[in-house]
Amino acid sequence: MAPLLHTPLCDLLGAPLPVVQTGMGWVATPELVAAVSEAGAFGFLAAATIPPEEVEDAIVAIQAKTQRPFGVNFLMDAPGADVIIDAILRRGVRAAGYNRAPNAELIARLKEGGVVCMPTCGAVKHAVKAEKLGADAIVVQGGEGGGHTGSVPTSLLVSQCVDAVSVPIVAAGGFRDGRGLVAALSFGAAGVAMGTRFLLTKESPVPQVTTDRYLQAGVEDVRVTTEIDGLPQRVVVNELVHELESKGPLGRLLFAVRNGLAFRKATGASLPELLRSALAMQKNERLTRSQVLMAANAPMLAKTAMTDGDPVAGYLPSGSVAGVIDDRPSCAELVASIRDEAERTLKELSQLLPQA
Ligand SMILES: Cc1cc2nc3c(=O)[nH]c(=O)nc-3n(C[C@H](O)[C@H](O)[C@H](O)COP(=O)(O)O)c2cc1C
Repeated sequence: MAPLLHTPLCDLLGAPLPVVQTGMGWVATPELVAAVSEAGAFGFLAAATIPPEEVEDAIVAIQAKTQRPFGVNFLMDAPGADVIIDAILRRGVRAAGYNRAPNAELIARLKEGGVVCMPTCGAVKHAVKAEKLGADAIVVQGGEGGGHTGSVPTSLLVSQCVDAVSVPIVAAGGFRDGRGLVAALSFGAAGVAMGTRFLLTKESPVPQVTTDRYLQAGVEDVRVTTEIDGLPQRVVVNELVHELESKGPLGRLLFAVRNGLAFRKATGASLPELLRSALAMQKNERLTRSQVLMAANAPMLAKTAMTDGDPVAGYLPSGSVAGVIDDRPSCAELVASIRDEAERTLKELSQLLPQA
């Protein structure tokens, strides 16, 4: 791919285009990550939903498919974060993504190993702290973004963070095309990160029956609920959301316990490990005990829709942008169209200036 639109993010990540695919649990698999990076953007493996001791195999699987750089996204306060960091360092992974509970010691290990540290933040104060802790670039996700999300619109949060920190900002939440990329650049970002748009590609592992729910959704069908795991999550509203929203507190708790036990089985985490993680989460996110229990819901409910192909009983984390996406291109087609449209848009905008 001829390097046309180039920003400092391209140099930092070694990607031709300043476009990042975010770490989506159960979705950002080796196949998707490799296809994204091979297409000229930068993919992140979602390690939070893989048993830590299997993350190295997933990294090797990506490296078998592409020579281009990619990253690994994981939770720093979850059991096995050290195992994942060992794998990242051993396999020469280009970048690490993380969000809640940044850990200075673990970040220092990554930086000593030459890994680009790129956390995701949803508030200006978190971006300032992330920079102090050594972030090389920061993904700033505004309220339109999929999954756990804040309430400040992307356009406002990105420009606020650009003013507050000096490392490159990557805008996330609501992006899908070349016009969006140019808009993000005009807010001062060095690129965009996209989740939902890459979920809806040919190489995404999500079964068609589930992606159909995203493709059919209108903007008003994607909204925030706290009933999945106690925290605000943006989702495509489906039968499950309606059911949870109509349950009483006890019904929701019983539901959460069942799913937490299933997640333990799927990831191989022991009960003490899960408890430690839950307590850390309670401290870091200032959750009540019942919210912590509800947090056990999310991973298994996402797997039900994303892997098992049941969009009725599972939940559908989604950015608002799903409401305006109605196709499922290959990653190569998508990345090429973003590049072409961004370039065309920049040229058109330059026509607004007095011509020499
Ligand atoms: C299906 C799905 C799963 C997600 N899973 C995670 C996750 O496991 N960890 C995480 O940090 N963010 C997760 N996110 C948030 C994304 O990484 C990203 O920040 C967000 O989707 C950006 O907004 P967009 O969807 O509008 O592009 C998820 C988002 C979606 C849509």
